[in-house]
Amino acid sequence: MLTDEERQEIVAELPRYPEKRAACVEALKIVQRRRGWVSDESLREVAELLEMTPDELDGVATFYNLIFRRPVGRHVILLCDSVSCWIMGGTDLRRRLQERLQIRPGETTADGRFTLLPVVCLGACDRAPAMMIDDDLHGDLTAQRLDAILERYP
Ligand code: FES
Repeated sequence: MLTDEERQEIVAELPRYPEKRAACVEALKIVQRRRGWVSDESLREVAELLEMTPDELDGVATFYNLIFRRPVGRHVILLCDSVSCWIMGGTDLRRRLQERLQIRPGETTADGRFTLLPVVCLGACDRAPAMMIDDDLHGDLTAQRLDAILERYP
């Protein structure tokens, strides 16, 4: 069930949009910010609130790869797998991350600490290879820096 706070926060967004359904991405982000991901139940309730069908809203949610439809770890690593990062050593970086975390892309560590997701260009090509952890962008990555960066996310 959506909480009263979640409903209020979503309803407060509505005047900023020409129609309710236009607020759908923001509404999904509100739920995800509070819960880490968007369950089927939450999606159904948001759809009802925005006068959309669950299928319509699910279509939006799955189109935006930053809306998570499955549980994720406490921290989400978005690792760029586009061309600039690939040229600058992104493959080695991904291998190092996989070894360090013992997971493959799309998986979550056994302790629930990290989820590793590949994404297209993060818009930080001048700092390739790059990744985001939660809302933080990390560029000019090396295997050595990677370990120190991960330590910042308990
Ligand atoms: Fe990786 Fe653009 S290609 S940030």
